[in-house]
Order: sequence, then structure tokens, then C-alpha cells
Amino acid sequence: MPAEGPALKALLLRLHTNSLAQEEEISKPDGKWTTLKALKRQGDAGDAAALADYQQQFDDLMRDKMIALDQDKALFIYHLCRALSATRIVEAGTSFGLSTIYLALAVGQNASKLGPEQRKAAKVIATENEPSKAILARQHWKEAGEEVEQWIELREGDLRQTLASNLPEEIDFVLFDIWTPMVVPALRVLEPNLKKGAVIVADNVTSSAYGYEDFHDYIKTRRNAYRSLVLPYSGGLEFTVYDP
Ligand SMILES: C[S@@+](CC[C@H](N)C(=O)[O-])C[C@H]1O[C@@H](n2cnc3c(N)ncnc32)[C@H](O)[C@@H]1O
Repeated sequence: MPAEGPALKALLLRLHTNSLAQEEEISKPDGKWTTLKALKRQGDAGDAAALADYQQQFDDLMRDKMIALDQDKALFIYHLCRALSATRIVEAGTSFGLSTIYLALAVGQNASKLGPEQRKAAKVIATENEPSKAILARQHWKEAGEEVEQWIELREGDLRQTLASNLPEEIDFVLFDIWTPMVVPALRVLEPNLKKGAVIVADNVTSSAYGYEDFHDYIKTRRNAYRSLVLPYSGGLEFTVYDP
């Protein structure tokens, strides 16, 4: 486990459990998400009114949902960031701050091996558009304690604006765990600051294949810059290396 303290372990377990319970509830055959997916299919088939209706209902439904990264994936990104000695991380999509805790633990543990100057630059830049989620994320990081909280800078608002300035000169690692239309806009903003060898992990690339089409088109057109493979986690977890 990334954390040894019983309180932090309990917090991680509680948040994962709550997220899964919410997802189970909305994914029941008569659940809201199941109904909405049908509306989305209508929209994707060209029905503009259905698409607009879907978007509104999706935003309403997701406003208080965690939709957190599964625990096995969260552990994977923690170990990956430790192996990469990543200390400059951007998380696209923070929600209630669960995956951020894993990233912050990795950053803090990696930073402990750095000198004071480099340590100053070590952080996870977290991004969340929904104010009520940002409040809860901050509460969870406070509860997680100093080994987590001090390494996180939360940028509230639309990441297309909040990531447009003040990025680390070099970014080591990016997590895309966000509504898929935001992936390419975020990547465009981050790309100039990705270090050679930066790793990008994107969640649910198989289960949301339609939504990731523009991401895959984007990285294909830059075949010399991005190399990627999909890891066999639930929904597909894509591992991409930026190596221009
Ligand atoms: C899948 S959830 C993130 C889950 C989180 N990574 C975790 O594991 O706990 C995606 C989040 O992205 C946020 N989001 C969507 N569009 C955004 C945007 N344009 N800017 C910032 N955040 C956005 C949503 O509000 C939602 O909370």
C-alpha cells in the first residue's frame, strides 16, 4: 500500500467503497446512467436535441458523483509514479480527490530524495470544474494529512483555462480521468511542457472508445511523438509515452 497509517488506509477504503456504491446504483438496469446511455446513443446517431438533453442530464447526474479511479488502477499509477520518480504531475479530472491522494503520496515520497530547490517544484496539479466537488476534495486531502495535502495545488474551474498558464517547465506524468471531450484540449495545453519520456495514463479508453476517438486520432497524427498501449484493466487503461 502507498500509505502505512491506519487512518489514511481507512480513508482510501471509504472513498473507494462510496464511489463503487454510487456507480452500482446509477448503473442498475433502471438506473439513471443506464437510461442516459440510451439517450447518448440517440445523440451520437445525429439527434441534436437528444444530445443536448443528454448533456444537461449528464451534468446534473454527475454533479455529486465521485466516478473515482478503481483501486487497482490507483495503485498502479502510484507505483508507476514512484518508478518514474515523478514529482511534477498533472491530474485532469479530480472529483472528490481520491486518485489525487495516490499521486500526492508518490510525489511526496519521490520528493523526499530531492534537494530543497527541486523539492519546491514538486506537486500534483489537480483540476476540478465543479465547486462542490472541489470543496469535498480539499476536505479529503485535509483528512489524509500532511503527507498528502502539502503536495497538491488544486486549480478550480475549466481546465482549458486553469492549465493555460503557470505549468511546471517539465511535466513528468499526466492522468486523464475526465469527461472525454476534455482530453485533447487538455493535451494540447500540456504538450509544450511534457518532458521527453513523460508518461500519460488515460482511463476507460476501451469502454469509452467513441469518446477517445479524437485522442487516438491526435496521437496517431504525431506517431513520432507518442507511443502507447492499452493495459488490460477494466474499461482499458492506456499507457502513453511522449518521446518526440
Ligand atoms: C472521472 S471524474 C475524476 C475522478 C478522480 N480522478 C478520482 O479518481 O477520484 C472526472 C471529473 O472531471 C471533472 N471535469 C469535467 N470537465 C472538466 C473541466 N472542463 N475542467 C475541470 N474538471 C472537469 C468532473 O467534474 C469530474 O469530477
